[in-house]
Amino acid sequence: MFQWQVRATSTGMNTRITRSPRTAAAILRKGGVVAFPTETVYGLGADAFNAQAVQAIFHAKERPADNPLIVHIADLSQLERVALSVSRTALRAMDQFFPGPLTILFPRHPDVPRLVTAGLDTVGVRFPSHTVAQVFLRECAVPVAAPSANRSGRPSPTTWQAAVEELDGRVDAILKGGASPIGLESTVLDCTQSPPVILREGAISLEQLRAFWPTMRTAPPTEHPGPARSPGLRYRHYAPAARVCVIPGPAALPPEQASRAAYIGLDASGFPTKPKRLRRCRDVTEYARALFRFFRQCEKQGITHIYCQRVPQHGLGRALMDRIERATTPIMRGN
Ligand code: TXA
Ligand code: MG
Repeated sequence: MFQWQVRATSTGMNTRITRSPRTAAAILRKGGVVAFPTETVYGLGADAFNAQAVQAIFHAKERPADNPLIVHIADLSQLERVALSVSRTALRAMDQFFPGPLTILFPRHPDVPRLVTAGLDTVGVRFPSHTVAQVFLRECAVPVAAPSANRSGRPSPTTWQAAVEELDGRVDAILKGGASPIGLESTVLDCTQSPPVILREGAISLEQLRAFWPTMRTAPPTEHPGPARSPGLRYRHYAPAARVCVIPGPAALPPEQASRAAYIGLDASGFPTKPKRLRRCRDVTEYARALFRFFRQCEKQGITHIYCQRVPQHGLGRALMDRIERATTPIMRGN
């Protein structure tokens, strides 16, 4: 079912699949769109200063135009090309967490096309720590605008094969790398205010950030009337074709479902009838790394119900529960 959906929506472009960061970067520099690995998830990049190339990202993903893209940099010298100023709060966050799975909001430099930031006056900037991503971004030699490399509303790809499933025939190139070691997207931190505010939970946890700003908090998506500060939070994300449900742990599943149900969690014993697919994770880190890939495997197997075990709202568990909860909610297409 899933394979069919992908073929039916391909736009017929010839997608080059390569292991060479240099080849992928050359394609991007010529105005192409290129999927590439990072430590969080695979991204779909274009030259951030080339509005036409950025437009092609929105087209390939079928992404709503009001959802801004993150700009990726290869080193801190590129920051002044995209950020108008750097607050003390941002400096501190960069000092602690760059390079890594953190996106920081800065006032937008006027050279950054409005299309990238969806008209907002801020720009999200990320400096990935992943080796292949760093080599690729250095070769690109321009800041790279990149959302996650999935079609809008679908789970983010955490392997190059998943990026191929999502985007083959829709993008110019896909850079092959290993599986993304974190498996969930970066934390988005608004450093234009002090203390900063978390707009999206991710691998850099609230607890880690509170070591520097003890009173800081996360912004509930409903807090802002009018245009949301982080527009992507309005949408349903990360969702596979099957229905996703959160449960406290192994339990009796409706008998008519067991043959088409899947379960992922930290505890796996105690099912009266085993679900068709069952994944036990050693800890929350492994659970986070496995989640999106598990969703994809379930789709291919024709699973109709995916049960995810709830984990405590602590550390990476907060981001993990955020993604699971979003996958359960049928609202709108998004990232
Ligand atoms: O880990 C990640 O962040 C991955 C990798 C590829 O870097 N990228 C990613 O991008 O997850 P995307 O587009 O799927 O999610 C970006 C999120 C969206 O929720 C978007 O609304 C928010 O960041 N965002 C980006 N720029 C923003 C801005 N200027 N103000 C508020 N929110 C912003
Ligand atoms: Mg996304």
